[in-house]
Amino acid sequence: MSTLDRPLPMTSAPGGLPDRVTIYEVGPRDGLQNEKAVVPTEVKAEFVTRLVAAGLPVVEATSFVHPKWVPQLADAADLMTMLGERMGPAAADLPVLVPNERGLDRALELGARHIAIFGSATETFATKNLNRSLDEQFAMFEPTVRRARDAGLDVRAYVSMCFGDPWEGAVPVEQVVAVGKRLFDLGASQLSLGDTIGVGTAGHVKELVAGFTGAGMSVDQLAMHFHDTYGQALANAFSALQEGITTFDASAGGLGGCPYAKSATGNLATEDLVWMLRGLGIETGVDLDAVVATSAWMAGQLGRPSPSAVVRALAGAEGLAESGT
Ligand code: HMG
Ligand code: MG
Repeated sequence: MSTLDRPLPMTSAPGGLPDRVTIYEVGPRDGLQNEKAVVPTEVKAEFVTRLVAAGLPVVEATSFVHPKWVPQLADAADLMTMLGERMGPAAADLPVLVPNERGLDRALELGARHIAIFGSATETFATKNLNRSLDEQFAMFEPTVRRARDAGLDVRAYVSMCFGDPWEGAVPVEQVVAVGKRLFDLGASQLSLGDTIGVGTAGHVKELVAGFTGAGMSVDQLAMHFHDTYGQALANAFSALQEGITTFDASAGGLGGCPYAKSATGNLATEDLVWMLRGLGIETGVDLDAVVATSAWMAGQLGRPSPSAVVRALAGAEGLAESGT
């Protein structure tokens, strides 16, 4: 059944929401970094290629972090080479995570044009995830971003633990805004606000967005990065939409987590987000059937079902999981 033939969800556009949303796909990076099994490079390349073919406009491919810290993505260089062979110059447009100058060197060698740095809003997570204090992380990012910008690269900045931290508890909005703005001002084009452990709720989302706009940032410069640990990711995305946010990070099939934040589970599933946006009449350019088929195929590779309700409903209904198409 093609996407155009599918009768559901019915569309009802309430007005007052954006017409179009950009989905920033993080499954190959945020998803696979947290898998116990190391996924073969060929499977990762197939995953990325399928996601691009499904119309996802941005697909974050991998991380140039220390391979001992994230062994699941130790094949970053091989993967980018393989993707270059499959996709040609378009592979350079796939963003990659870079924490420091060493990571930037590795990414530049492979021709990357888009990188993402990732800071922490809290002291404890900065230490656990980056082996740096909150202040020291800026000393690591500053020359990385400067050199990347000098080389003409686009830089995205993530800030983690925006809605709460498993070690520190509540994280004041002012603290998140101060850290996020400081990261953005290093020279980023976009700031992604991470609910790393999925504890955010809809009102908190509005308060955080207001904190950033009150500090002079526009909603166009912000992206939301929700994890679905407490089942709030979609409600939080709707709340952010109401505030005018138009970029959402999501992970095909709801893969994901963070190896240095044990309570983090999967990201907001791309399919769940597309389903909601389609119902609201909001364009994404994403072929839902193709993403569902890809997630069902990946679930087969990983040997477990997708946590996404939409994948289970659609793949189950159409036998995609069984056929592996
Ligand atoms: P460190 O041990 O402090 O590194 O790790 P260092 O600077 O002291 O260097 C030690 C050695 O590592 C040196 O080698 C460096 O060359 C090497 P030696 O001289 O001893 O032979 N090295 C590297 N090698 C390869 N690639 C590199 C690299 N850097 C140094 N990039 C470091 C510091 C930042 C590298 C480490 O802590 C690290 O890799 N952390 C990454 C953790 C990570 O990837 N976490 C998951 C991503 S974040 C996330 O998921 C959250 C997000 O989704 C948003 C949200 O949900 O909130 C983005
Ligand atoms: Mg994440």
